[in-house]
Amino acid sequence: MTQDPPRTPRTVAVVLAGGIGVRVGLGIPKQLIKIAGKAIVEHTLESLQSSEHIDEILIMMNAASIGELDHLLDKERFPKLTRILPGGATRNDTTQLAIAALSGDDTKVLFHDAVRPFIDDRIISDCVNALDEFDAVDTAIASADTIIEVDENRIITGIPHRARLRRGQTPQAFRLGTIRKAYEIAANDPNFAATDDCGVVFAYLPDVPIYVVDGTAENMKVTEPIDVDIADKIFQMQSATLSRENIREVPDLTGKTIVVFGGSYGIGESIVNQAQAAGADVRQFSRSTTGTDVRSAKAVRRALASVHEQTGRIDAVIVTAGILRIAPLVATPKRDLKESIQVNLIAPTIVAREAFPYLEKTAGQVVLFTSSSYTRGRAGYSTYSATKAGVVNLTQALAEEWGESGVRINCVNPQRTKTPMRTGAFGDEPPETLLDPEDVARVTLNVVGSDLTGQIVTVQVAQMAKAKA
Ligand code: CTP
Repeated sequence: MTQDPPRTPRTVAVVLAGGIGVRVGLGIPKQLIKIAGKAIVEHTLESLQSSEHIDEILIMMNAASIGELDHLLDKERFPKLTRILPGGATRNDTTQLAIAALSGDDTKVLFHDAVRPFIDDRIISDCVNALDEFDAVDTAIASADTIIEVDENRIITGIPHRARLRRGQTPQAFRLGTIRKAYEIAANDPNFAATDDCGVVFAYLPDVPIYVVDGTAENMKVTEPIDVDIADKIFQMQSATLSRENIREVPDLTGKTIVVFGGSYGIGESIVNQAQAAGADVRQFSRSTTGTDVRSAKAVRRALASVHEQTGRIDAVIVTAGILRIAPLVATPKRDLKESIQVNLIAPTIVAREAFPYLEKTAGQVVLFTSSSYTRGRAGYSTYSATKAGVVNLTQALAEEWGESGVRINCVNPQRTKTPMRTGAFGDEPPETLLDPEDVARVTLNVVGSDLTGQIVTVQVAQMAKAKA
């Protein structure tokens, strides 16, 4: 087996986790707070690990809690993580300890706050690439608020022009030799004061230009108590986006068996037709065509067993069955309530459970459907929006439970789509605001062909128009 030669110069990401997080005030270092099932620093680490631009990762952890991260030194999960070292008393001390632990003046080093878990690969690659031209790089976003300067009496002393102001984030990226030299000069300054690393280069190496790449609003720093709630919400709403090329065509599905529950009309019907055209062996079940009631575990079990018997494999199971009826809760008959919850939430749960043993053999996938009402319950269809929030949580939970098994589960979130279900509930709506079920089907089959798991894949009219342009 041939191995790629190590990349030179190397790119090292340093995760700054030496702080305590006094302002969040939860009594544990804030980088250890669990959001969406994992410590914040673990999310950050996952993003850095998955970036092809990073060769090695170092964590500088608050010394008193350093043992809490031992489990991350897992060569399978985080092969790039080489060391977890104690941080220093201030953020700048922590940076200096990291510099001391690294070698090679040319080494590209990215310092990133542990408590910015939403760093994305675009930011990372922009920073790493900018280091080919610049020795120092910052990440920043425009300021929506006007920034004012005040004196100790709360009187405004300056209002800098907003268009030129930016809010600094991380990563801050440097050639190791540059940041090392800046700190060496700073060490001789008795009045040294800085809150970040670009500030040190700016003050002590004024001839070194510091290039700025765009950050994102999501790349927020968890700082105040409310940020924990905001970060939680961002995790919940994070949607996977498929690339434009990916949603133009259906991948080749030759040799795959795909089961669709609820495939007799609307999005389900489009999925069945497109998957067949793409070479898949598609088996469709619904109450109207095969008399299959998805609310019944027995019926689902029988359907899956018959498919497996005939085809010898099941690669994907897609549930498009759903019920949407508009009515205030108190005016909804009990029978309708029960049916809505059973079809929209219990059925996906049953199908996922029954499909798992078959999908385990093929490293296959379950695809569920949610609706944009999952982020906020809507008057008039309370149980529908509640069940759709449930489907999102089901997807995320099972992706974690099934991580080891290789079985994946994702959830498609189509914006309003022109289907009989929607027209029945909402009447005629302006056609340009509605998705074509064929587009939703194509995205769904691209999800089937991808290696995503635990993702909520949003499909929007504007995005489809762009993809077709
Ligand atoms: N940091 C560090 N070493 C320190 C202090 C801070 O590595 N001695 C890290 C923090 O862990 C965090 C990042 O720098 O990831 C940003 O700092 P900040 O938000 O100020 O974190 P804390 O110092 O932990 O927060 P607080 O000021 O509320 O105590």
